[in-house]
Amino acid sequence: MRKPFVAGNWKMNTDSQSSVGLADGIACGSMDIAGRRVDVAVIPPFVYLQAVVRTLNGAHIAVGAQDIYYEQKGAFTGEISASMLKSVGCVYVLCGHSERRHVIGESDELVNKKVTAAICSGLLPIFCVGEKLQEREASQTSEVVTRQIRNGLAGLGVEKVSAVTIAYEPVWAIGTGLTATPQQAQEVHALIRRLLGEMYDAQLAEEIRILYGGSVKPGNAADLMRQQDIDGLLVGGASLNADDFVAIIKAAAA
Ligand code: PGA
Repeated sequence: MRKPFVAGNWKMNTDSQSSVGLADGIACGSMDIAGRRVDVAVIPPFVYLQAVVRTLNGAHIAVGAQDIYYEQKGAFTGEISASMLKSVGCVYVLCGHSERRHVIGESDELVNKKVTAAICSGLLPIFCVGEKLQEREASQTSEVVTRQIRNGLAGLGVEKVSAVTIAYEPVWAIGTGLTATPQQAQEVHALIRRLLGEMYDAQLAEEIRILYGGSVKPGNAADLMRQQDIDGLLVGGASLNADDFVAIIKAAAA
């Protein structure tokens, strides 16, 4: 049985005060279930990580970072390494989020280096994949997602890949209010699980968690979670409101 997992990606939002307030609100609202019936993580901007880790002390909510650089240290101005993230209490890190792929221009190869660096340093990557609207309309969803998964996990054996959580986030559904229907999402999640079975083995495919992301709200979370291969949710906009995020956590735990 895969334990449900809900992660809130705050993106480039909040400030030093509201990041702490939001973390506190989420911790209070999910006290009875976080870490027990559902794994929960929040993913604030780098500069608020430490304050959020401190606020969540004892709350059974993990903290993740939105990105890493793959080198360990040195002359890489502006970048943040896996060991730095670990040293401030991060457990998870997003790798290959669609905004990094399509706004910043990250390639599959760069994402692969980041996933590898994260795992080798003991961080748990949340590895994001998903097709753009024109790719879906051209019936290329399966091809694009397959390529992203094969390239993003290249060179990693079954033991390392078992540290990965996959997030399927159709680019056309992110921040647009357009959610994939539960059936559309389930279809791609099943495809990803089959692919992982081919690339690794049946046990890994059965155990790995695959989250859905893209305009997840309190009103659609339960329907998405009812799908067989949807194991959790990666939430952007709705994770900035403690009540909405807690409602999503509760839907995933039900
Ligand atoms: P959204 O973002 O929930 O605001 O669509 C999801 C994400 O980008 O992870």
